[in-house]
Amino acid sequence: MYKNFLGIKDLQKNDVETLVATAIKYKQSMEEYKNLLKDKVIITIFFENSTRTRTSFEIAAKKMGGEIVNIDYEKSSLKKGETDFDTIQNLSAMHPDAFVVRHYDSGYPNFLSKFTDIPIINAGDGICEHPSQAVLDLVTMQEVKGRLDNLNVCIIGDITNSRVARSHLETAKMFNWNLSFYGPKTMMPKKEWIKEAKIETNLEKALCDKDFIILLRIQLERNSGQNLPSLGEYAKFFGLNQNNTPKKTYIMHPGPVNRNVELSSYVMDNNKNKTLITKQVENGVFARMAVYNFCING
Ligand code: CP
Repeated sequence: MYKNFLGIKDLQKNDVETLVATAIKYKQSMEEYKNLLKDKVIITIFFENSTRTRTSFEIAAKKMGGEIVNIDYEKSSLKKGETDFDTIQNLSAMHPDAFVVRHYDSGYPNFLSKFTDIPIINAGDGICEHPSQAVLDLVTMQEVKGRLDNLNVCIIGDITNSRVARSHLETAKMFNWNLSFYGPKTMMPKKEWIKEAKIETNLEKALCDKDFIILLRIQLERNSGQNLPSLGEYAKFFGLNQNNTPKKTYIMHPGPVNRNVELSSYVMDNNKNKTLITKQVENGVFARMAVYNFCING
């Protein structure tokens, strides 16, 4: 049965566990995934820039034997005024097997899903969710920590604008995390929105006794910079560097990193056992393979 992949909030814990286990199985042996998408065609439509997500969805499809068609928004008939729902219905008439969609508007993939029976895979929508990022983060956590339940996790940065933080609010509930947030007050959402998460009152407490610290990018394209005196100020009070990075804590970041803002170049380049950013990207390919299998093969 075809399924959408719109957000972690739509999934059950056992769905997420299956996605993580499937990604890890694929990572262990290419025999497990090759040809699973034979004769399948995936259409990607990205309205926002991407390096990791778009490329890993492409590589994942190709490694599984599928074909990828990229819609270039700038050259599409959307630019001539065709509506989004006419576009998705016309593309659906060509019988692809899934759409991978990134959009700057929250809820856009959900909106498109009302106009097609073909699975819609959310590759990040506005400030709403980034579910495949959450899955690849979980794959990485399972790999290094050996479990997902009862973790101590702090997310630091621009929480208000973060679809990664919103997806992890859902994973935190599923896996009974002790989840906290920390960042400038101007980047903290209303307490009602994050009632399940604790707010840390200073960086020392935010970094204390955590299994994982997830750093978030200052999203200059969403005007996050306007909520700060300067990027240097952010680095000084909220950034991790060689003096304050805890030795026993794993450091994660969805990327792209603003070097020497959220994380110093020194820690990024010299903390290979604990800084997991490249491992997250590597696992992104296997996580997205698992997402394809979940949506297309059932
Ligand atoms: N983490 C992430 O979504 O990166 P990209 O914007 O490069 O896809």
